[in-house]
Amino acid sequence: MTSTAQHVGLIRGLHHITLVTSNEDVNRRFYTEVLGLRRVKLTVNQDDVHHRHLFYADEKATTGSAITFFEWPHMRPGKIGLGSPHHLSYTTPKFDSLPKWKSWLRQKGVSVEGPYVRDDRTSIYVRDPDGVIVEITSPNNDEVSQDYAKEAFRDLPSATAIAREMKLTTFHHASPLTYDSETTAKFFDKFLGLTDKFTIPNPDQTGTNILGVGSEERPGFLRYLAMPKPSEGYVGEGSIHHIAMAVEDDEAQQKILKRLNEVGIENSGIIDRFWFHSLYLRDPDGNLLEIATKNPGYSADESPEKLGTSLVLPKWLEPRRAEIESALKLADANNHGKWPPDYPRVHSPPEAM
Ligand SMILES: [Fe+2]
Ligand SMILES: [Fe+2]
Repeated sequence: MTSTAQHVGLIRGLHHITLVTSNEDVNRRFYTEVLGLRRVKLTVNQDDVHHRHLFYADEKATTGSAITFFEWPHMRPGKIGLGSPHHLSYTTPKFDSLPKWKSWLRQKGVSVEGPYVRDDRTSIYVRDPDGVIVEITSPNNDEVSQDYAKEAFRDLPSATAIAREMKLTTFHHASPLTYDSETTAKFFDKFLGLTDKFTIPNPDQTGTNILGVGSEERPGFLRYLAMPKPSEGYVGEGSIHHIAMAVEDDEAQQKILKRLNEVGIENSGIIDRFWFHSLYLRDPDGNLLEIATKNPGYSADESPEKLGTSLVLPKWLEPRRAEIESALKLADANNHGKWPPDYPRVHSPPEAM
């Protein structure tokens, strides 16, 4: 490492992933009642204040566990492609939880695909009510074989609740698309200091690869689906809007900003989001990325036990509360979600285009 590489090692993994939902009620019920997460923030989109921004995470709102949604009703469905990532993956620590998850999800009417035994993990896949592909993965610490997995899923254990050990923890990875993995790998290495990378064949699509990008502590937290000619995607209902990576503090974020400006990468500059500070940029394929600080954190304005229980606004929006609340009420009157939803099916194999 040269002395100029001061930006290396500053990004620690994922911070949050932000998507688009059409309906708050259906979205909340799915992520809390079906996937067992906890709402940790109920607020509005700071760039579009008449629409909600919803945050769900694990019990402690751990960095890297938060899935967040802009509620934008009446959008067309998004399209996966360049600039519109393919899927995200949550970790459940133990393999034995996966058959229980499948049983639980099926009881809830969710269409489940899998198990898929990969080299480094075993996964099942679902689509949320808006169509987002969510992978639930258990890292194969104990080297689960195809036969062992087959046996474990043969007679699904009954699961009438989400047991403590089943709980989703942090994200395992997010998967955008790239058409030029060499350029993408260089971009993360040279500009964002993510030097740890690997390329492996994509077992779901012959002739294509997966480019893993990460840090030493979190290898492959981004797993790009690398393919020769993916079409352009666009953001809409059920899309991943952006992927946020975590830095420890403002100082680390400033170092990255300095690096981006030195090499001429267009970026947003640092924006105060109240619960964290954000810096936005796009990768070479047009995917929107964010670099967010761990602090101040979701407990900056609510006690840990009360997180997400009422509409909170950053202090500069508080004077507009009445106007915001009435806009939300009006939008709700025209937005009826169906529960339980008709869950979209996951295609097979799930990590192919
Ligand atoms: Fe995946
Ligand atoms: Fe974000």
